[in-house]
Amino acid sequence: MSDHYPLPETPAQQNISFELNGEAVTRSASDAGTLLDILRESGQITSARPGCRVGRCGACQVLLDGCAVPSCLVMAWQLPGRHVQTVEGLNKDPDFLAVRDALASESALQCGYCTPGFAVSLVAGIRQRRQGSKVDLTECVAGNLCRCTGYGGLRRAIARLAAPGCADEADGRSTSEQEKL
Ligand code: FES
Ligand code: FES
Repeated sequence: MSDHYPLPETPAQQNISFELNGEAVTRSASDAGTLLDILRESGQITSARPGCRVGRCGACQVLLDGCAVPSCLVMAWQLPGRHVQTVEGLNKDPDFLAVRDALASESALQCGYCTPGFAVSLVAGIRQRRQGSKVDLTECVAGNLCRCTGYGGLRRAIARLAAPGCADEADGRSTSEQEKL
């Protein structure tokens, strides 16, 4: 049988260069490897967390060239020349600090497994709104799941972030957004 059905070859490893939290890095990965695996295998990034591994839970969310994406769906071959940001690289970022404070103030975490993914999605949403997008912060976390079902705290934290003067410009969107929550 093995003559007719040879085992697939292990994909070759190659060096992949990209920017991670502001620093140029080179990581060994196969074309079949994902950004999530590359980050986790480095041992330095723990905020991108494996959950579903098929883009459904948001636990592995990172910023790729400023856009929130599930790192389990980004393949290694897509990384050269791109800029990846994780929570580890955002800890002095004012938008991230506003998100962190809102989550903490509203006790919007239980086990915390999903929290970095929610934070990354919210940072991306706040930045989009500042650039004039009418994106609703609640929609920004539509791809994030909390297995502890701590959605009450998350809704309150999002309402806090959407309030005038907190991480976003007061422009009339915030009030209507709060009413939807
Ligand atoms: S692990 Fe990537 S979206 Fe669930
Ligand atoms: S706080 Fe536990 S998964 Fe969300």
